[in-house]
Amino acid sequence: MSSSPLKIGVAGVGTVGAALIAQIAEQRAALAARCGRPIEVVAVSARNRAKKRDIDLVKFRWHADPVSLAHDPGVDVFVELIGGNGDPARAAIEAALKSGKSVVTANKALLAKHGVKLAAIAERHHVALNFEAAVGGAIPIVKTLREGLAGNALDRVYGILNGTCNYILSRMEREGLTFDECLKDAQRLGYAEADPTFDIEGHDTAQKLAILASLAFGTRVDERAVYVEGISSITPADLLAADELGYRIKLLGVAMKTPKGIEQRVHPTMVRKETAIAQVMGVTNAVTIDAAGINPLTLVGPGAGGKATASAVLSDIGDVARGVRTAPFGRPSARLTPVKKAPMQRHEGGYYIRLLARDRPGTAATVAKRLAEQDISLESIVQRHGKEAVKAGGPVPVILITYATSEDAVRKALAAVGRDRVISGRPQVIRIEKN
Ligand code: HSE
Repeated sequence: MSSSPLKIGVAGVGTVGAALIAQIAEQRAALAARCGRPIEVVAVSARNRAKKRDIDLVKFRWHADPVSLAHDPGVDVFVELIGGNGDPARAAIEAALKSGKSVVTANKALLAKHGVKLAAIAERHHVALNFEAAVGGAIPIVKTLREGLAGNALDRVYGILNGTCNYILSRMEREGLTFDECLKDAQRLGYAEADPTFDIEGHDTAQKLAILASLAFGTRVDERAVYVEGISSITPADLLAADELGYRIKLLGVAMKTPKGIEQRVHPTMVRKETAIAQVMGVTNAVTIDAAGINPLTLVGPGAGGKATASAVLSDIGDVARGVRTAPFGRPSARLTPVKKAPMQRHEGGYYIRLLARDRPGTAATVAKRLAEQDISLESIVQRHGKEAVKAGGPVPVILITYATSEDAVRKALAAVGRDRVISGRPQVIRIEKN
């Protein structure tokens, strides 16, 4: 194996880029020993050269344009940390792959949209396209699915894939803080996306889930196949009710095989408090894999932030240094199959439903009748008269937990309850995941 340094070009020197450059310098000797050759950053590109950073960029060749960095003949590996599902990230990655450079990227948005095309280009040019940092921060979930479990048939992959959302839900639950206060802290700590609605509305999780589903089930990565709901409708009342009923609320991404196809869904989810996934608090991510014989396998670790992401990027660079190259999605891109999407209306499981019911005789009977019409059976029903009961005669929060039923049945029953005019506002519906 070559002992000449592997020369790295880094496009995008924000939180992650700066952490990566620092880590490569700090780990210089250890990296050379582990990977068989030194790893050296030689060139960088960023939007603003003059921006104040903790690291000094003067010793690196500067490219104002990431595509020019991708063409730099003195660079062996192009590291893309620009983000976004279009140019300049896409143009720069394509240029790098086509000029025979391996690419390491953390860009989940781009992979969720153009992953198959980029993988095909990488394969044609016999170079690596590595993206461990795109999902789960420091958790080596891409490698686990692609290589570690290459011999297992998987049934379900699910997890907490967005540090920002888990951080917000955990602090709201534990410290009784408002959503906005927690979001501001997540932004200050560098967890959130440039536009935090991507985090809160579940799109960041959806992109990561689409990548995991492709690795797990050998399907073409396709973000459009993911059903998405975010956490902005979750209220302190839901967190409190969940707690009292023995659950926690987590934003989960779930990809699972069903007889109707592959379900890919992102939504706030009730998980039993005693499960592994319910213990995961703060910015930590976790992914659980269900596969025959090794069920369940859970990986937990820091999911966002400069150091966590840089750790995964560096592991991908290490593979290139060692000469390890795998098909980006675990099999040749031409062999990835189209996703057979299971319709969300046919999703089956338990449901938490919170209604604001009019405090009048017959309301409970009407709700029960509408549920019964859809064959929905109730595990529990709680009418709350605590702090939330607004005033005497005003609407009363009622919380229903159903046994397994279908999404379609729940939607139909609640539409009928709405037409009956026995509730005010929109019911809150949270799916319960079996763990
Ligand atoms: N905004 C993302 C998160 C960053 O909060 O998890 C890591 O992908």
